[in-house]
Amino acid sequence: MADQAADTHVGVGVDIGGSGIKGAPVDLGTGAFTADRVKIRTPQPSTPEAVSRVVAQIASSVGGGAPSGAPLGVTFPGVVRNGTAETAANVDDAWIGQNVEGLLSEATGRAVAAVNDADAAAVAEHRWGAARGVRGTVLLTTLGTGIGTALLVDGHLVPNTEFGHLVVDGHDAETRASSAAKEREELSYEEWATERLQRYYEEVERLLSPDLIVIGGGVSRKADKFLGYLKLKADVAPADLRNAAGIAGAALIAAERFA
Ligand code: BGC
Repeated sequence: MADQAADTHVGVGVDIGGSGIKGAPVDLGTGAFTADRVKIRTPQPSTPEAVSRVVAQIASSVGGGAPSGAPLGVTFPGVVRNGTAETAANVDDAWIGQNVEGLLSEATGRAVAAVNDADAAAVAEHRWGAARGVRGTVLLTTLGTGIGTALLVDGHLVPNTEFGHLVVDGHDAETRASSAAKEREELSYEEWATERLQRYYEEVERLLSPDLIVIGGGVSRKADKFLGYLKLKADVAPADLRNAAGIAGAALIAAERFA
C-alpha cells in the first residue's frame, strides 16, 4: 500500500536533445529525480524512427519507483503544437510535420505528452525553482546546442516562443551565443559572456523588458563563471534545477494531462 502511494507520486520525463537523449523518474512533489538519469547519445541522423527507438529504450529502463506504463512527458527541441513538431533546428528535418506524441506513444506503448524543451523547463522552474512565485514577465533561456526560450507572464506560459532565433547583428542568435557556439569557437567564459551573451540579452531586453531572466541548460552548472559579467536591467538567475528542469517539467505536464 505504501509503495503504491509512493509510485503514484513519481512521473517520467524524457529530454530529446541534439546531442543526447535523457530520461529520469521525477518526484512530482519536489521535482527531484528519484533515480539516476539514463542517457543515450542522440542517433545520427536523428530521424524520427531512430530517436523513437532510443526513447523506448530509455522509457523501459527508467526505474526509481515510477509505475511501469506511467505516461511519458517528452521534451522536443523545436516548436510543438498539439503534439506535432513544426520546426526542428537541431534534430533531423524529417521531424517537421510529424505527430511526436503519436509516434512516441506507438514506440513506447504509453501515453505521451510532447512539449518544447524550454517550455518544459520553465514549467519546472515556475513550480519548483528560480521562477517560483515570481509575477511579471519571466524569460527562461536554455543555453545548449541551440538557445531555447520560454516566456511566463504572471506564471502563465506563452508557449513556443523562439527568441533563440532572433536575428542579432545579422546572425541567428543561437549560432553566436549558444554554449555550442562557445565550444565551437573556443571562447573563454569571459569572452562568451561579454561579447556574445551580453549582446543577445540586451536585444532580448529591448524587445521584451523581462523582470527576471532565468538561465538554464547544461552550462548553468557553471553560472558562477559567466553570470557576473552580464550587465542587464532584469534580475538574472541560474535555473535552480539546472539541466534537470526539462525532464522534471515534462514529467509534471504529462502527469497533469493524463491524471
Ligand atoms: C529550437 C527551439 C529549442 C532550442 C533548444 C532551438 O534551435 O528552435 O525550439 O527550444 O533550440 O533546444
